[in-house]
Amino acid sequence: MSQTLHVVILAAGQGKRMKSPLPKVLAPLAGGTLLDRVLDRAKALRPEAIHVVVGHQAETVKARYADVPDLHWVPQEQQLGTGHAVMMALPTIPDGAQVLVLLGDMPLLETETLSMLCDLAGNEVAILTARVPDPAGYGRIVRAHDGSVQAIVEHRDADAATLLIDEVNSGLMAAPRERLALWLDKLDQGNVQGEYYLTDVVSLARQYGVPVQALLAEDPNELLGANDRWQLATLERMFQRRLAHGLCDAGATLADPARIDIRGDVSVEPGVFIDVNAVFEGYNRLGADVHIGPGCHLIDCDLAPGTTVNAHCVLEGMRTTGACDIGPFARLRPGTELAEGTRIGNFVETKNARLGQGSKANHLSYVGDAEVGADVNIGAGTITCNYDGANKHTTVIGDGAFIGSDSQLVAPVTVGPGATIGAGTTVTKDAPDNELTVTRRRQMTIPGWKRPTKQES
Ligand code: UD1
Ligand code: CA
Repeated sequence: MSQTLHVVILAAGQGKRMKSPLPKVLAPLAGGTLLDRVLDRAKALRPEAIHVVVGHQAETVKARYADVPDLHWVPQEQQLGTGHAVMMALPTIPDGAQVLVLLGDMPLLETETLSMLCDLAGNEVAILTARVPDPAGYGRIVRAHDGSVQAIVEHRDADAATLLIDEVNSGLMAAPRERLALWLDKLDQGNVQGEYYLTDVVSLARQYGVPVQALLAEDPNELLGANDRWQLATLERMFQRRLAHGLCDAGATLADPARIDIRGDVSVEPGVFIDVNAVFEGYNRLGADVHIGPGCHLIDCDLAPGTTVNAHCVLEGMRTTGACDIGPFARLRPGTELAEGTRIGNFVETKNARLGQGSKANHLSYVGDAEVGADVNIGAGTITCNYDGANKHTTVIGDGAFIGSDSQLVAPVTVGPGATIGAGTTVTKDAPDNELTVTRRRQMTIPGWKRPTKQES
C-alpha cells in the first residue's frame, strides 16, 4: 500500500542577503514568486497536503497566497534551524504519511526529481545530492567506505578534509513521519550556528540502523537557490531558457532563446516564429504560424493562426479570430477583437473595439468603444470620441463604410453601411448608408494674395 504524501516547504527565513523589504520566498521569478514555482512542483506530486513553514513576515507571505486553497500555514516564531522548522509542521501530519521537505527558494527543481526522491525513500530516508564544481556554503555528504551515506556536515562545521568533498546536500529530504518525529526530537544545537539541523537526521538514521539513500541529481542546477539578487537574476535566466526550450519543443522558432521573457504562460502551435526581445505576460496563446516581430510586449492575448504582429507592438487583453496584420507600433488594449484579414497599422490605438473581416486602420487612429463591420476603411487620423468627460459611448460603423482621414466620430454615433465620410469631418449625427457625409467648409482661393515679407528694422 502506498503512503500518503505530505510536503513541507521551509519558508520562514528572512533572506538577509537579498537586501529586500520582501521576504525571500516572495522574490520575483518569471512573473511569479520563488514560492510559486516550488508550490507548482509540489502540487504536481498530488500530495495529501502542503504545509508551508512561515516566520519572517509570515503575514505578508500568507496574504500573497490568500486566494490559494488548501495550503496549511505552519508558524515558526523563531528560526531555530531547518530541523526545528520541520518539527513545527509534524503535529498536523498523520502517522503513516511520507514527509517530503522542500526549501522555499529552490525554483529549478523538477517534479520528476521529487517523485524519484519519494520513491527512493519508501519507508526509509532519502536525500537529494549533487556534485558541484564549487561546494562552498553547502552541507557536504560524508560517505562510508562502502559508499553508503554516513552524515551531512554543514560547511561551517566542516574540517579541512570534509570541505574537499564535492558532493553536496540539496536540503531536500523524504522520510516517514514517525521516524522523523523520533529523530527530530533528539536533535541538539551543538553546532557552530547553534541551530537544530534537519541534516543531523542522517546520522541519527544510521544510529537506528535505517539506511539513507542519496539521489544524485543529474543536473546540479536543480539545487540552485537564491541567496542574493545576483543568484536570483541567474535563476531567472536559467528558468527563462527552460521556458524557451519548451516553446521550441512545441514547434516554435525563436530568433534567440536568450532574448525572450515569459512572465506567465505562453502556449504555441507549430510554425510560430518569435523574433528577439519579445516579452509575454499573463496567459498568451499563439496559433499556428503566428509571427511576432522584434520588441513586442504581449499581455493576455489570443492570436489566431497566421496572425502577424510586426515590430514594437504592445498588445493587451486582445484577440484575433483569423489571420491579421498588426503594427509596427500598434497599441491594442483590452476588449480588442480583430476578425480575419484585419489590418492595424502604425500608431493606431484600439480599446474595446471589434473590427470585422478585412477592415483596416492603417495609420494614426484611436478606435475605442467601437463596433466596426467588415471591409471598413478607417483613414489616417480618425478618432472615435468615446468619452464625454463622464461616460463612455459607442461608435457603430457599418460594413463597407469609408472614413476619410482626420475625421472625428463623436459617440454615440452610427455610420451606416457603405457610407463615406469626407476627410476632416466631425460626425455628430448618424451618417446615412451609402451617402457622402462631410462637414468641411468649401475651399476658397484669395486671388492676388501676397505673403508678408520681413520688415527692415
Ligand atoms: C541548508 C542545509 C544544507 C544545504 C543547503 C542547500 C541544513 C542545516 N542545511 O543550509 O545542508 O546544503 O540548505 O541550500 O538544513 N528555514 C526555516 N526555518 C529555520 C531555518 C531555515 O524555515 O529555522 C528555511 C529558510 O527560509 C530556507 C531554508 O529553510 O528557505 C534553508 O535554510 P538556510 O538557512 O538557507 O539553510 P542553509 O544554511 O542554506
Ligand atoms: Ca543557515
